[in-house]
Amino acid sequence: MSDSFVDAAEVASLSPGQGRSIEIAGHRLALFNVDGRFHAIDDDCPHRGGPLGAGWFENGKVHCPLHGWAFDVVTGGCDVRPERPVRTHAVEIRGDRVWVAVPKK
Ligand code: FES
Repeated sequence: MSDSFVDAAEVASLSPGQGRSIEIAGHRLALFNVDGRFHAIDDDCPHRGGPLGAGWFENGKVHCPLHGWAFDVVTGGCDVRPERPVRTHAVEIRGDRVWVAVPKK
């Protein structure tokens, strides 16, 4: 199934170094601003579904608020359990909006 880009947020709504959970087109995602570049991952932690958008975010990594697994928000890689990465989503900036690719439902 192919992905399609969906309008997700205003660029100005997320400053560098910040992240948050969003819901678009029936998908829960976590959106992050890493030094002015936006990245999106699934909001559900691969461990037990913790909301990654609410995690502690520093140096391009988000730490799950439930048990602290850390994920690289660019690659989805997990420091604690490399075999359990989180899914990443392509992001495009169109004007003053952030668009994120999600699977078509
Ligand atoms: S639910 Fe995320 S580390 Fe446990």
